[in-house]
Amino acid sequence: MGLHQRKRCEIRPIGVPCVIRHIRQSVCLQHIDIPFKTPALTGVFSVFFPAQQMKPISQDNVIRTYRFYAPLYDLLFGAVLEPGRRALTETVNSVMPASVLEVGVGTGLTLERYPASSSIVGIDISQEMLEIARQRAALLIEREIRLEAMDAEALDFPDDYFECITIPYVLSVTPNPERLVSEIRRVCRKDGTILILNHFSGSRFWWLLERTVRSMANRIGFRSDFCFSEQILKHDWEVLSVRKVNFLGLSKLVVIRNT
Ligand SMILES: C[S@@+](CC[C@H](N)C(=O)[O-])C[C@H]1O[C@@H](n2cnc3c(N)ncnc32)[C@H](O)[C@@H]1O
Repeated sequence: MGLHQRKRCEIRPIGVPCVIRHIRQSVCLQHIDIPFKTPALTGVFSVFFPAQQMKPISQDNVIRTYRFYAPLYDLLFGAVLEPGRRALTETVNSVMPASVLEVGVGTGLTLERYPASSSIVGIDISQEMLEIARQRAALLIEREIRLEAMDAEALDFPDDYFECITIPYVLSVTPNPERLVSEIRRVCRKDGTILILNHFSGSRFWWLLERTVRSMANRIGFRSDFCFSEQILKHDWEVLSVRKVNFLGLSKLVVIRNT
């Protein structure tokens, strides 16, 4: 925020637009305390929405959560997250890579839209999600699709193996996103394409929901407090583009060159 704007807010500390702007800016910068200048307002806000570290998720919980979600997943998250998946596969089609690794392939909702000429490997830690993906893949005859149970934080592939890696709605679900990023960078070719599709905190429309479900990360199977600058910009890869996708910009599609 510019000095000029900050000054205006200090003069009119409880103006509604000013308060909304402050709340939005504070959502992503969770390591910084709420930037309100009015002590009373700061106190009230932090009682309801205390600034916290990113919530931990255990591997057991990911497995348990997606065992529960598997039969309902397509119904709950199929259509609602579909525009993002479409944008992701369109980008893959514009790159036309020879090989694609999809990390956290889930029930295989993207599989049919990858380029027919690409060799596809999908991995997931949940056997139940993977079983549905296998049924989908079985219908895609004449396509080269391999599905395997594997932890994305300990990939069983050699270095520089894939030309393109996609990570749709997984980065804020995995227990240790940094370890996942390090692994996908290892198995992705230098100059290869990495596509991350995810919700990041700080959205204009979704901040209240983010804050409300934040403490439930381990139960609902994803973190809502997932900061773009901390999870994407801090790595020394090249971010080529960032585009909002899904209803009211719920998610972002990030296109990255592996350097
Ligand atoms: C929100 S779902 C996304 C599924 C699918 N990509 C989609 O577009 O609907 C997250 C998936 O990531 C998987 N997952 C989470 N952490 C993982 C990890 N460390 N390794 C492999 N899969 C993981 C979960 O089992 C789940 O199937």
